[in-house]
Amino acid sequence: MSAAPSPAASPVVIAGRDLARHYGVGRGLFRPRATVKAVDGVSFALAAGRTLAVVGESGSGKSTLARLVTLLEPPTSGSLAIDGRDATAGPGRADPADDPTLRRTVQMVFQNPYGSLNPRKTVGAILEEPLRINTALGKPARTEAARAMIAKVGLRPEHIARYPHMFSGGQRQRIAIARALMLSPRIVVADEPVSALDVSIRAQVLNLMLDLQRELGLAYLFISHDLSVVRHIADEVLVMYLGRTVEQGPKATIFARPRHPYTKALLASTPAVDPKHRGERIRLTGELPSPLDPPSGCAFRTRCPFATGECAGARPELREVAGRQVACHRVEAIG
Ligand SMILES: Nc1ncnc2c1ncn2[C@@H]1O[C@H](COP(=O)(O)OP(=O)(O)OP(=O)(O)O)[C@@H](O)[C@H]1O
Ligand SMILES: [Mg+2]
Repeated sequence: MSAAPSPAASPVVIAGRDLARHYGVGRGLFRPRATVKAVDGVSFALAAGRTLAVVGESGSGKSTLARLVTLLEPPTSGSLAIDGRDATAGPGRADPADDPTLRRTVQMVFQNPYGSLNPRKTVGAILEEPLRINTALGKPARTEAARAMIAKVGLRPEHIARYPHMFSGGQRQRIAIARALMLSPRIVVADEPVSALDVSIRAQVLNLMLDLQRELGLAYLFISHDLSVVRHIADEVLVMYLGRTVEQGPKATIFARPRHPYTKALLASTPAVDPKHRGERIRLTGELPSPLDPPSGCAFRTRCPFATGECAGARPELREVAGRQVACHRVEAIG
């Protein structure tokens, strides 16, 4: 088996630039409609064989970003390139979601392996379905492809004839991964793929994903709020807070010394991360502010122990600090 491709040698397979997704929401009869900026200016580039982990608390915009990247929703603004092709939806141009080649290039694995598999279909039918819909392969070729894939994810040939309820959570997630790979995608977006699983089997499923990545050169956009999982699987990390990136860069750099106070707090609250590497103990206090009415300036300032008057003024933009990007006015003062 060949080694994982080095970042320099691997082509970028998916890139987002300034991606935003805003939702208009009603607030009741006599109040004006408000806007939720679920994703608000996120950029990334991901190469074959590499994993970008997107982390942040509930409501930070991770799943919304996943829907943009998998073409389930168009961005409000910004652009997306998949495999070197423009995949941005917009007025006056063809919808990339209608392009079968683009669609099959990015596949998704969801958090809940119970809800995402049709209970009335056998595993074989579930795995063959993407081929039936998207390819001209005949039945024997589809069956053969399903058999080969079930072996790749560590299940047995006889499992093909069984129904999803006959499997454990970990096995079901293996089936969901197998289904995602049937169309030979180059990018897999996994939204909390192991959070619903028993702690004891998380590592098995993560290791399977890593093996498949090495074998197939897959790029992973891996969403997780669990930094011990991220430490295991990521090459790059993107930390989101209320729709915006607060820190982004190589995992090793960020885990060795997080620089944004929010990243410091997330790492400090992850017991499995080596205390030596957790940095200063910053506790996350208070609630995530309402996304309908985010704080001015730096959105994190209401929970940040280092905030000063400056942080309520101009919004901090991402800038290069010690080998990664950070959006914090006070990063040098905090150290
Ligand atoms: N269709 C929608 N209409 C209005 N608001 C939405 C919609 N989808 C998401 N939001 C809002 O956008 C914000 C981000 O939601 P999102 O589901 O992307 O967060 P998340 O980081 O995936 O959270 P979790 O960790 O709980 O899955 C939230 O405030 C959410 O309420
Ligand atoms: Mg989510």
